Amino acid sequence: MGFDKKILGIGAGYVGGPTMAMIAFKCPQHKVTVVDVNHDRIARWNSDKLPIYEPGLDEVVQTARGRNLFFSTDIEKGIKEHDIIFVSVNTPTKTFGDGAGMAADLQYWEKTARQISKYSDTDKIIVEKSTLPVRTAEALERILTASNRGVRFEVLSNPEFMAEGTAIRDLEEPDRILIGSRETEEGRSARDELVGIYTNWVSEERIITSNIWSSELSKLVSNAFLAQRISSINSISALCEKTEADVTEVARAVGMDSRIGPGFLNASIGFGGSCFQKDILNLVYLCRHYGLEDVADYWEGVVSINDYQKERFVHNMLSAMFNTLAGKKICLFGFAFKANTGDTRESPAIYVARRLFEEKAHVRITDPKALDNARIDLQDLSDQISYVEDPREAASGCDAIAVMTEWDMYRDLDYARIYRSMAKPAFVFDGRNILDHKGLFELGFNVYPTGKGALTHF
Ligand SMILES: NC(=O)c1ccc[n+]([C@@H]2O[C@H](COP(=O)([O-])OP(=O)(O)OC[C@H]3O[C@@H](n4cnc5c(N)ncnc54)[C@H](O)[C@@H]3O)[C@@H](O)[C@H]2O)c1
Repeated sequence: MGFDKKILGIGAGYVGGPTMAMIAFKCPQHKVTVVDVNHDRIARWNSDKLPIYEPGLDEVVQTARGRNLFFSTDIEKGIKEHDIIFVSVNTPTKTFGDGAGMAADLQYWEKTARQISKYSDTDKIIVEKSTLPVRTAEALERILTASNRGVRFEVLSNPEFMAEGTAIRDLEEPDRILIGSRETEEGRSARDELVGIYTNWVSEERIITSNIWSSELSKLVSNAFLAQRISSINSISALCEKTEADVTEVARAVGMDSRIGPGFLNASIGFGGSCFQKDILNLVYLCRHYGLEDVADYWEGVVSINDYQKERFVHNMLSAMFNTLAGKKICLFGFAFKANTGDTRESPAIYVARRLFEEKAHVRITDPKALDNARIDLQDLSDQISYVEDPREAASGCDAIAVMTEWDMYRDLDYARIYRSMAKPAFVFDGRNILDHKGLFELGFNVYPTGKGALTHF
């Protein structure tokens, strides 16, 4: 069967896999191929055990795979045979040289650009899906056209706004699709072609277009604003704990102001995930690059508060548990950076586990989807860390439970039984405010929520 368009996705990770799978699912008339340098990842995309966990992803992949969705490691063939190329490779924070710890590491992205340039012998539309510093499209155009082989490339920016844990729902019903293009005839025509793909399932009023630099910058700013809200409420949680105000009540009162809105106002142990910190640091780096020191300092504060909140959590545990954790058994409920994903990148649980290890506590970790990643994240701390599938078993014999991830399953466990199985006095530190604090207190626990008064029997 002939296909209308041939679409390639380079990078089969948390973004590339689900986004390309959704395009294939919604557009059976187009062929979609996803390529990656990682052979193991591609083998898993072709298997029954996909490399990432996302609710609803299995069904989408099963419907489209083999019909018009294909996973491959043959990047050269992929580039040659496809006309529209989405680039979703990783752009982590640079760990070396100039800009280390702040700037985006663009080596994977640049390698991809060079491969596209090398293997293309027909005109292509290149779509930036990865999150990139503003004005990256300019560098991309220079690399693509450097070899001057008569092939035309039109670069578009189409940042991805989906969130892990709700990726399929977000891709199916996005708040908006943003497409940035050059304001030239060719740029507008490429943009319209991409709009045409999305209109297969997204209504036109949700598809917005802009100039290419606004589009690139909007993604960084969007993540910075989301993270800023978390840091804002987390900073207030510290004040609530000192003043007997309750952060949930404050957030509700504040969020009902229609100018503010209720989203992203849950106090917690801090944000994690591969994007928020990386993208804010990238924004900070860009501001400094352009000499905007005050603007850079402002946004850097969002990351500082996040670090402060994680350390504050450990400090609260330490002071509640009589200023020593040495030899105590502490069970971390959850390790993923949020519920409904197995992703642990930048998870606050990594920081907490490492700090507890430093305090010579014995850490037991339980999580329904993230234990494999947790083992990798903490592989250098072998002897004092253990991993247990079942949360009831994990808590048994422990001095404290610390909730790291808001998995629904932790809300209604048999805490009376768990309490009986634990060392006394038994503590709960709720880093996500998902448990019934009063109920736990009545069972005998000493309960330390986030941003509200502790309930203790002392
Ligand atoms: N994870 C998210 O929630 C999210 C959301 C929106 C945007 N983003 C952005 O999307 C991009 C990708 O993020 P991710 O979480 O999917 O990363 P990831 O690490 O899960 O996936 C990136 C993939 O690209 C592959 N890759 C690297 N270089 C390659 C090359 N030269 N050729 C082929 N494949 C190559 C890697 O092997 C990897 O499988 C980043 O820029 C990120 O900031 C991520």
